[in-house]
Amino acid sequence: MPVKNAMTADFLRSAYGGESMAHMRYLIWAELAEKEGFKNIARLFNAIAYAERIHARNHFSELGGSTNDATVAAGGVFGLGKTVENLQGAIKGELHEVEQMYPVYLNTARFQSELGAERSFHYALEAEKIHARLFKDAQDAAKQGKDFELKVVYICPICGHTVLDEAPDKCPICGASKDMFKAF
Ligand SMILES: [Fe+2]
Ligand SMILES: [Fe+2]
Repeated sequence: MPVKNAMTADFLRSAYGGESMAHMRYLIWAELAEKEGFKNIARLFNAIAYAERIHARNHFSELGGSTNDATVAAGGVFGLGKTVENLQGAIKGELHEVEQMYPVYLNTARFQSELGAERSFHYALEAEKIHARLFKDAQDAAKQGKDFELKVVYICPICGHTVLDEAPDKCPICGASKDMFKAF
């Protein structure tokens, strides 16, 4: 059922905008990481860009055809830098979502009994916690001039859950099966 309450709808539009921009920023930062020789960090940016697209799609679909203006609370950092700086921008954006944006959005949706929006915000909040940690680990490596050690990044196509090296039998956030995970 599409969203009913104005405040939750406002937050869905805002989150849709923020995730859309994060998706694009990470694709651009992936290109730069690749050029600097950080092949795995480029892969991490591409994988997480896909996770943000999942979040954008979930928020978008919860809006169910409603129209209105969007204000975007992205907490984003814009522009091109070196990969170490871009990772700092990514960490900053993810932490904004984890500490400020999604807890407020999630609690508002819950308060307004907007079950679809609540689920969509919950999925995003859980994934962003992991993204913040992974970008921090990647930055620690990049600061020493090293690439981030990883084999495969797996993304759940339902909720954006992000795991390194091996997909779980069942997504711990949304219950999707192992074979659904997309590998990067
Ligand atoms: Fe994220
Ligand atoms: Fe999932």
